[in-house]
Amino acid sequence: MHKTVQDIVLKKKTGKKISVVTAYDYSIASLCDKAGIDVLLVGDSGGMVMLGYENTIPVTMDQMCFFTEAVSKARLNSLVVSDLPFMSYQTSITDAITNAGRLIKAGADAVKLEGGKHMADTINAIVEIGIPVMGHIGLQPQTTILSQGYKVQGKTADTALKLIEDAKEIEAAGVFSIALEMVSHEVAKIISDTIKIPTIGIGSGLNCDGQVLVIHDILGMYEKIKPKFVKQYLTLSKDIQKAVETYRKDVELEKFPRKENWFSMEKSELEKLRNEIGN
Ligand code: KIV
Repeated sequence: MHKTVQDIVLKKKTGKKISVVTAYDYSIASLCDKAGIDVLLVGDSGGMVMLGYENTIPVTMDQMCFFTEAVSKARLNSLVVSDLPFMSYQTSITDAITNAGRLIKAGADAVKLEGGKHMADTINAIVEIGIPVMGHIGLQPQTTILSQGYKVQGKTADTALKLIEDAKEIEAAGVFSIALEMVSHEVAKIISDTIKIPTIGIGSGLNCDGQVLVIHDILGMYEKIKPKFVKQYLTLSKDIQKAVETYRKDVELEKFPRKENWFSMEKSELEKLRNEIGN
């Protein structure tokens, strides 16, 4: 049996940190699951790292369902949480429920949506029908970038107060956890100490109850943006490019394929064939 939302909430209660990575496809999701990651987040960041969009705004429900199906097929142990993309839940509570339902049917265990207290009624409506929701405050890529770009959130007392209020309100609305994106680490600590549910930080310091990173950033596979908060554990883009270049040269120089890579007919069958075609 894979992890449940309750297992994730319990980790905070027992003082254990929660590990989250994004995943969008079967192969990488399977490796992350085997690595013991608690939560596979099918993030709308997939629109950027998998589909090449400049930001997450163009991402559609169909694309999120497509990613979610692949990831949910791969997981054995992790919890799968999928992002509701831009304009799939802001338009009405009915849309929010319908689209949350689509992600669950595609294989997610829970959905994530961006927004503070103005999203409380939407969150509550989704939770009431039985779909667990993860909140997401601080930098909200679907909207913050429209007005401010990528900026650290909660650097002044006023904005910090608003973030703390947002966290409390969406906790009351029923989220089981809250992603805190690019929140000053002092405010992330205050929120994590104030609310009972786990906070999952991205660029928000060590005092969150868990951490999330985009898998392409961990593996060094996305070269367009390198945020300060990322720790890169591999340089896969260089390794992949080198491997593919070597393959290309092998093809050009007829070094590939080799005998061990091809298939042969029985000699007698080949002779029969040659006789047939006069060759
Ligand atoms: O889409 C995503 O990758 C996310 C994380 C940054 C939390 O929402």
